[in-house]
Amino acid sequence: MIFTIFGATGDLTTKKLIPALYNLYIESQLPEEFTVLGIGRRDYDDAGFIAEIEAGMQGDYAEWDVFKVHIQYYRMDFSNIDAFSAFSAMLKTHYAGQLRDKIFYLATAPRFFPIIAEGLIQNHIVVRGDLRSKIVFEKPFGEDLASAKSYNRMLLQSIDESQVYRIDHYLGKEMLQNILIVRFANKIFENIWNFKHIDHIKIIAYESETVKQRGGYYDQSGALKDMVQNHLFQTLALVAMDSPTGLNDRLIKDEKVKVLQRIVMSDDIMFGQYAGYLDEKGIPSGSKTETFAALKLYINTSRWQHTPFYLITGKKMDEKLFRIVITFKDSSFFFEKGQPEKNQLVIEVYPREGIEILFNGKAPGLQAYAMPMKLDYCHLCNTIGNTPEAYEKLILDVIHDDASLFTRWDEIEASWEIIDALEMIKHFEPLVIYENQTAILAKLETLWKEVKI
Ligand code: BG6
Repeated sequence: MIFTIFGATGDLTTKKLIPALYNLYIESQLPEEFTVLGIGRRDYDDAGFIAEIEAGMQGDYAEWDVFKVHIQYYRMDFSNIDAFSAFSAMLKTHYAGQLRDKIFYLATAPRFFPIIAEGLIQNHIVVRGDLRSKIVFEKPFGEDLASAKSYNRMLLQSIDESQVYRIDHYLGKEMLQNILIVRFANKIFENIWNFKHIDHIKIIAYESETVKQRGGYYDQSGALKDMVQNHLFQTLALVAMDSPTGLNDRLIKDEKVKVLQRIVMSDDIMFGQYAGYLDEKGIPSGSKTETFAALKLYINTSRWQHTPFYLITGKKMDEKLFRIVITFKDSSFFFEKGQPEKNQLVIEVYPREGIEILFNGKAPGLQAYAMPMKLDYCHLCNTIGNTPEAYEKLILDVIHDDASLFTRWDEIEASWEIIDALEMIKHFEPLVIYENQTAILAKLETLWKEVKI
């Protein structure tokens, strides 16, 4: 197998792809004969590329020396279509024995997707119907609806959908995979999973990091395209979808896409940019790109009616965390003391993986006072930092031809429709410059008075 990464000198390779491939190797999940071929425009040889990866590596890599002999580098300007015929010849010369299984991972900015795909297809490196040659597209797939549509059209004119993997690594996270099981394998949840019983739902994605070295990419994206269009909308779809008529991939995606197609935005939205963003490397002066987005929306289905969904994401917050908070309506009973609190189901994705249920019970003692209590389930409690595992799971799925945790075209299309509309509105909204999490959330509280953030 040859696993080729276009854009291999970027952050993603060091932080996520190499650790994932390394773990798969340790778990004996990779074929006996394999190469990880990094492609970039920088002037590296194999050793230089490996040294660059090693410089960014964290954690325990006991078998690294055995693994790294499988890593190679090929210098190429992949924005030039003519470069692909030499690339094709090089593959045939050096990797003839491994070419039966080819995975091309496009870890580049989306604007390079069409040219790379075209180069691979025109030079018969990827051939329609050959299910042993596949292309994986990092998110976001496209820059807006029009570009995503044109990339998709171009791809499907030349290769089959089953050779195309549009990745959203959040779908590989344990707790996101857990949502459907918690919802549909438990009678206690599914019957109350609707507007009659749920007051509101929050999806919160905070990151303490700034854009760091990724300014060039990030400034073209902003929080809406970098996080909302994909990770947050996919989470929303899993939380809000109706029960599928069967547990197969197509039926689940059919229900997810209905959620995305029925999103109705409210006007209560807010965008922010962290103070100091303009001084980051690669950010044009005066950039208005948002590093924080807070959206209130509704899902126009009979299940949800007027239930508000709050999506919040931001960089340079106090801590990195991702969680889904489902808040139920008030209980109708009143107690002499100790007013019952609203029930909550909290699905924690990061840093801890787990589920909490907040409920009310009797306080110990002679009187019937209500008191808040908590049931706490910890999923892989000792695991900190689940991200490499998400990529690990998804890369393994690509190797095994399983696209169930990848996004289907219609999901992407529906997501872009909303994001395009938001991008238009964004320009008329004030951009709040924030020093820190406290400041931006205080501002948000003045907008969303009805909810505790
Ligand atoms: C990526 C975004 O898709 O997801 C990054 O491009 C973000 O900006 C990252 O930091 C977050 O992923 P995770 O798995 O670390 O939460």
